[in-house]
Amino acid sequence: MVRAFAPGKCILFGEHAVVYGHPAVAVAIEAGVEVRLEESERWVLDGMNFEPSRHPHIKHIITNVFEYDGSPLKIDINSTLFPAAGLGSSAALSNAMGAALQELIDPSGDIDAIKLARISHSAEAIAQEGRASPTDTAASALGGSVVVSGERLKGINHRFDAELITPEGERNWSIHSAELHPNLAEAWLVLGFTGKGSPTGKMVAGVADLLEKEPAHKEDMLAIANITNAGLAALAAGNLPAIGIAMDACHKRLQNIQVSSPALDLLVNSARPHSFGAKLTGAGGGGCMVALTNNPKRVAEAIEIAGGKPLISRFGTEGVRLID
Ligand code: PMV
Repeated sequence: MVRAFAPGKCILFGEHAVVYGHPAVAVAIEAGVEVRLEESERWVLDGMNFEPSRHPHIKHIITNVFEYDGSPLKIDINSTLFPAAGLGSSAALSNAMGAALQELIDPSGDIDAIKLARISHSAEAIAQEGRASPTDTAASALGGSVVVSGERLKGINHRFDAELITPEGERNWSIHSAELHPNLAEAWLVLGFTGKGSPTGKMVAGVADLLEKEPAHKEDMLAIANITNAGLAALAAGNLPAIGIAMDACHKRLQNIQVSSPALDLLVNSARPHSFGAKLTGAGGGGCMVALTNNPKRVAEAIEIAGGKPLISRFGTEGVRLID
């Protein structure tokens, strides 16, 4: 039997602005997806008959990427992420599936994280009609904190470039790893799920409409890009209060572009008295918020009292890995 685990992610800075070529910063979180594979007499997924059409990511990886033609497999998936909450569960599934299948076909005990990030990005693109940014897949594969941008950034570790032919034309991204200061080992992220799914496509389309009708909001996009750069400097310096201030400022701009919601604002406000900073994370509309704190238990309680589902994580955990 082979087992692999890949983490989920949350976006710390730059959501929505990244759609317009600005940088976004995502961090890997402790929760994620484990995939177990073993040879079997028939194809089974979580105890049921495996129906490839219902699992496009898995089908793509098995058939198109690895061109697997060995014995049928018993596939078991165990996720500790909230589903459809903007925490990158499908990217984590693709990475864990790719790592496990690679190891099953050619056991080496080694992982090529960049290769897996590319495979998983292609799986996301197939499953999402050709539109997928590499943010979730790269954060889950590489771990730590990744910066995704429309161009190569100076003064930061460039890892690889990704491209995709989308229905709107070719898109290109550069993926970097951000430096995380050792001070961050003392900090925790607490995510708060509103319980409502995060409709990424709808939120992105809503922002595009707003920018067309009210071009003054372009100012918010530029401000998010500046906040992201300030946040990156604060991450490298390990300045927790400065990271928190940048998170709060980012939330304000995301409110301005109308992607927050009363439920997200409620959870953000409940977390703030015990946090360095808090903001919605990902597309908004529903989904999750994230707080940076050195008192995770207190923040988790506050989120729960406000009606959210909390999830505590260390900051920027390891990426996809095999499990013994
Ligand atoms: O829903 P999430 O957490 O994957 O975040 C989407 C982030 C956006 O910037 C809104 C969209 C994108 O493709 O980057």
